[in-house]
Amino acid sequence: MNSKISGLYKLNIKERQEKLIKAGFPKEEIEKINNFGSLGETASDHLIENVIGALTLPLGIATNFVINGKDYLIPMVLEEASVVAAASKAAKLSEGFTAKAEESIMIGQILLTEISDVEKTINEILKKEKELIESITNPEDIMVKLGGGAKKIKAIKLKENWIEVQLLVDCKDAMGANTVNTLCEKLAPQLEKISNGNALMRIISNLAIYRKVKAKTIWKKELIGEEAIKAIIKANEFAELSPFRGSTHNKGIMNGIDAVCIATGQDFRAIEAGAHSFACFEKKYSPLTKYYKNSEGNLVGEIELPLAIGTVGGATKINPAAQFSMKLLEINSAKELECVIACVGLAQNFAALYAITTEGIQRGHMSLHAKNIAVNAGAKEKEINLIAEKMIKEKKISEENARKILEEIREKNN
Ligand code: MEV
Repeated sequence: MNSKISGLYKLNIKERQEKLIKAGFPKEEIEKINNFGSLGETASDHLIENVIGALTLPLGIATNFVINGKDYLIPMVLEEASVVAAASKAAKLSEGFTAKAEESIMIGQILLTEISDVEKTINEILKKEKELIESITNPEDIMVKLGGGAKKIKAIKLKENWIEVQLLVDCKDAMGANTVNTLCEKLAPQLEKISNGNALMRIISNLAIYRKVKAKTIWKKELIGEEAIKAIIKANEFAELSPFRGSTHNKGIMNGIDAVCIATGQDFRAIEAGAHSFACFEKKYSPLTKYYKNSEGNLVGEIELPLAIGTVGGATKINPAAQFSMKLLEINSAKELECVIACVGLAQNFAALYAITTEGIQRGHMSLHAKNIAVNAGAKEKEINLIAEKMIKEKKISEENARKILEEIREKNN
């Protein structure tokens, strides 16, 4: 199809769909995406540009999470089988989680170029720090009234003629991108004046090193076994030694983290960027978790990563499913949600390492995969489990086999 469709943004959803059909795209394919779920057509059309449909994902609930003494039912949105079950199992096996989030400080960056005297400019910026912050602070701003807003300015020489100015902003319950970008844009002209240079870029950094969350839990040896404890500690060491393993190790963590972020309407790409850049911040790429044995011989698991989470503004307010998730979580602040999300990441990682170092990851996956195949073959309700179990027993998981077993079951029941 010709990709040059002009003015698509001016049309409504129906008209855009018709444009595609007229251009030769099959109508029945359009029907597959013509369902806007709980988001609805109007909100979908306003969220992004050139909307022609929506892609729905399931929202599941992870159980058994007790964090800082409070029970949570955790909404997770993703397409991968086993993740919700694994998180729930890891939480059930744990002694409950403790977690703590740092203040919601985000970093904004302003790149100053064409500076004739870098050292002198840095001194000048730092000398004027207080008045610069005052000049971009609006006391009427709700975030400022809550004690947030611009807090600090740092200036770093990047190379000859270049300075990186970092603006540290307390974003309170917001993720912060809008606030930080606005403040950086406000500050930039003054920096240009001081430096006689060019403020080429004014943008938030996703490496939110001042907005980290730490979470911790214990898995008792009586529940998981001493062999599993040794194996999990070795598995973490493997991720420390090999970035190839480290990448997959952290991907497993992000399975849980992204799923809660999507369910609650977060910018999960920002979270991903922050997590992976933190994993190699001032060191080689490393796992975001740590495991060790405590004096009782139980397994202690810890996680630390930056989490720029918002509970005000953003998609949380627009998407009814995200609002549902927030209600389900009974969350009162961004920091509390950050704590929950870090614990899910830790649980997810434990579950993956536990499975991989014992029975292997495929068994659990297979059972859910077999159920999906059974559904694809047309199985309904109780038939799904019967077919999945039979296919696993026969070690023949395919749609063809599922259809054969389905026919047998239905013939028997007639
Ligand atoms: C799969 O989505 C995630 C895992 O590969 C994570 C890991 O290997 O630790 C199972």
